[in-house]
Amino acid sequence: MNKRVIPIKAGSLILPSSTGPLDEAPVDTLGRPIRDLRISVTDRCNFRCNYCMPKTVFNRDFKFMPHDSLLTFEEIERVARLFVDQGVEKLRITGGEPLMRKHLERLIEKLARLPVELTLTTNGSLLARKAQSFKDAGLQRVTVSLDALDDPTFRKMNDVDFPVAEVLAGIEAAAGVGLPVKINMVVKRGVNDQAILPVVRHFKGSGHIVRFIEYMDVGSSLGWKMDEVVPSREIVDLINAELPIEPANPNYRGEVARRWRFKDGSGEIGVISSVTEAFCSSCTRLRLSPEGSLYTCLFAQGGHDIRQLLRGGADDETITRAIQGIWQQRGDRYSEIRTADTAAARKVEMHYIGG
Ligand code: GTP
Ligand code: 5AD
Ligand code: SF4
Ligand code: SF4
Repeated sequence: MNKRVIPIKAGSLILPSSTGPLDEAPVDTLGRPIRDLRISVTDRCNFRCNYCMPKTVFNRDFKFMPHDSLLTFEEIERVARLFVDQGVEKLRITGGEPLMRKHLERLIEKLARLPVELTLTTNGSLLARKAQSFKDAGLQRVTVSLDALDDPTFRKMNDVDFPVAEVLAGIEAAAGVGLPVKINMVVKRGVNDQAILPVVRHFKGSGHIVRFIEYMDVGSSLGWKMDEVVPSREIVDLINAELPIEPANPNYRGEVARRWRFKDGSGEIGVISSVTEAFCSSCTRLRLSPEGSLYTCLFAQGGHDIRQLLRGGADDETITRAIQGIWQQRGDRYSEIRTADTAAARKVEMHYIGG
């Protein structure tokens, strides 16, 4: 393993660059490889979830990115291919709301040619009409965010008037065309914690796996407070009291969700405890922003701009060396070392680099 990293200069840009063999997949300073690339295709969303894009900040005056600053599908495909050569095994298309990006199926079609798992995270609002074309383009599975089953609570979470029924229709459309579905529910105490059991009851036996996510202090606009977090342990106890569950083994090393299966054999749920039980030590995720910056942590204060390399005519070797260099310098473990100060610090916004 060669861990030497020297800076490269491209225009006004200074990026780290690896030396050593190009075909040797990099590990970071904590020994973690890159396995999972999350590609955000837009910073826009038609929802305003209070834990992600609160209306106080993301209002009419908010300036979203102009279209020409976004990576093209060809540029994304190129970056993804170079990452796959460096050990990436899973690509996740995310946003903002990725279905806000026009002709997304064309990107899916390009990425589906790579020898990796291809999945998508969406709020489900536009999924019903797209599921078939996504499946045809080669998408392998889908994760839908859904924070309640009743309209008033759903609305309290996402701050828009959108019927839950349409998200449920999106989920069924995806399942109907043969896409396995996971459901992500962020839980905020006093806002949607009473919706946990109805969601569990609704999806139990459906084959769709619901995962409950602890509310995190992402971005800088949430006014996050620890007492709004419902610890996963509490969620597990609540479910277990009505519908007995037992722990199940992880599907793969570094899986973010802890799995629990129903003792009656009717499926499983998961909990994602990024606040009360951090999982940084096995974090193999990297995020690509819509404008082509790489973020080595969900809580990063800055990214590495590789769009300039892409648009400046850099060859594959130069970009690969930059990718390797960025990863070899990585030492992120934010959730393990979270304090009141770091929680209040300025960080990248979640709607920009995706969930
Ligand atoms: P699959 O098991 O492949 O479905 O994916 P996953 O477990 O990575 O789940 P998903 O991508 O749906 O992530 C679920 C949620 O976990 C995200 O929306 C975040 O809230 C949280 N999460 C995912 N990755 C990270 C991470 O790297 N750090 C932290 N702190 N939270 C994360
Ligand atoms: N805390 C936890 N998860 C979040 N997400 C976005 N913001 C937060 C937050 N503050 C995740 C959720 C959502 C996905 C798109 O991003 O899982 O479903
Ligand atoms: Fe939009 Fe997803 Fe953020 Fe909600 S969590 S505002 S649906 S990007
Ligand atoms: Fe990975 Fe950063 Fe999340 Fe830790 S806080 S799991 S290092 S993205």
